[in-house]
Amino acid sequence: MSGGVVVQFLGAVGVVVAVGLGCAAAPVQLAQATPDAATLFREGQALYVSRCATCHGLHGEGDYGPRIEASTVVADSQQIIMQMFVGTEDGMSPQFYRELSDREIAATATFVRGALGNSFGPVFPNEVAGLR
Ligand code: HEC
Repeated sequence: MSGGVVVQFLGAVGVVVAVGLGCAAAPVQLAQATPDAATLFREGQALYVSRCATCHGLHGEGDYGPRIEASTVVADSQQIIMQMFVGTEDGMSPQFYRELSDREIAATATFVRGALGNSFGPVFPNEVAGLR
């Protein structure tokens, strides 16, 4: 084996190892990444419009469902999460337990708590996961 071939061989091993590590590391990083409050708010706005606004109004003013502004349920992060999990006993407000992921519920909660006349703090997916 000449010196040149050895160097080429080692170079190839290096590339394979680097690619292998890249593949192994990427999904782990994605799974652990916690979205920031601004990202959750943005995602939650779209979810609110598609999932909640028909009943609660585009600006939370209420329609078939009650007004969202100054709701004591919205003010309490656990209560708003549970509200989305189970809806209301009378079935008038739907359940989103199966339909929405932890991140989607966190995002929707972040939006209704931070907009529509409210100024409560964000809700992160780990809080939702803890209540599931
Ligand atoms: C099909 C119509 C409908 C949809 C869709 C809906 N809701 Fe409701 N929601 C209601 C009704 C009706 C009530 C009141 C039920 C009751 O008091 O018995 C309610 C109650 C609530 C309350 C409690 C308000 C309070 O102060 O008591 C919250 C918070 C809430 N909904 C949030 C949401 C969110 C967030 C979404 C979307 C993920 C959503 N709802 C989707 C109809 C709806």
